[in-house]
Amino acid sequence: MKDIIVIDKLSFRYDNKYIFNNFSLKIKENSFVSIIGPNGSGKSTLAKLLVGLLKVADEITIFDLIMNEKNLNDIRKDIALIMDTTNDCFVAETVADEIVFGLENLGLKNSDIKKRLDEIVKLLKIDSILNTDPYSLSGGEKKLVSLASSLIMNPKIIVIDDAFEMIDKETKEKIFKYLKQQKKLTIINITHNIEDVYYSDRTIILNQGDILVDGPTLKVLEQDKVFNRIGIELPFMLDLSLKLKLYGLVDKIILDMNEMVNELWK
Ligand SMILES: Nc1ncnc2c1ncn2[C@@H]1O[C@H](COP(=O)(O)OP(=O)(O)OP(=O)(O)O)[C@@H](O)[C@H]1O
Ligand SMILES: [Mg+2]
Repeated sequence: MKDIIVIDKLSFRYDNKYIFNNFSLKIKENSFVSIIGPNGSGKSTLAKLLVGLLKVADEITIFDLIMNEKNLNDIRKDIALIMDTTNDCFVAETVADEIVFGLENLGLKNSDIKKRLDEIVKLLKIDSILNTDPYSLSGGEKKLVSLASSLIMNPKIIVIDDAFEMIDKETKEKIFKYLKQQKKLTIINITHNIEDVYYSDRTIILNQGDILVDGPTLKVLEQDKVFNRIGIELPFMLDLSLKLKLYGLVDKIILDMNEMVNELWK
């Protein structure tokens, strides 16, 4: 697989405070990468840099295009950012119109739009709010509408910046599973919650603009000392798994309670 995102020695600062200094990162096409780090580690800054919201940086190459003024619109067309802010901005009067707004602007056939809308609505279970004014929705529902509006456009890269905090666990798992199944989608999932990295193939631990650990998710999850040091809490099942593994009672990380019980009864 080729690299879809290449960041080569990027430096970025707000006023005189450096957030990234000589920062490099490569992300493969169709991969599902999580970036986890404590508050203020630079995650949202990175997300905004990737979509050209903070600065147009020629140290960043996406889809083989250097991120400069000339290429910015071409890059943005295929990359979606779902942010953590609660004040989402909507343009239409109903949820359904809001979700299809972008597709309609592309001039797609009504039947195709309808088909894609139905698929997304089913996935996110938002049929009951389709005729509602998006501004009157709850925080979690607003996030789902933003996600639906992005997914319907078939982006090649989706960057999720701590946006699923307000979405219940079951729906979140369904969304991650769906995203993972998409053959031509690269997912960058930014979070400070370890439970949100379970679905990704690769996990990066970021602290103060530096990559502390980078590797396959199950290997990175073993770095309990690093998580403790930067103040990220281990979920119960992960903590338990690592302790049992240390004493040789299990030989791998098991995050599902039933699977753990079966393993221990063997
Ligand atoms: N617009 C801004 N102007 C000045 N400093 C900023 C600005 N935005 C962020 N910062 C600073 O940059 C650092 C990194 O912020 P960033 O939002 O990238 O962190 P984060 O990892 O997303 O944190 P969180 O988990 O809290 O969302 C923080 O110290 C923050 O104070
Ligand atoms: Mg953030």
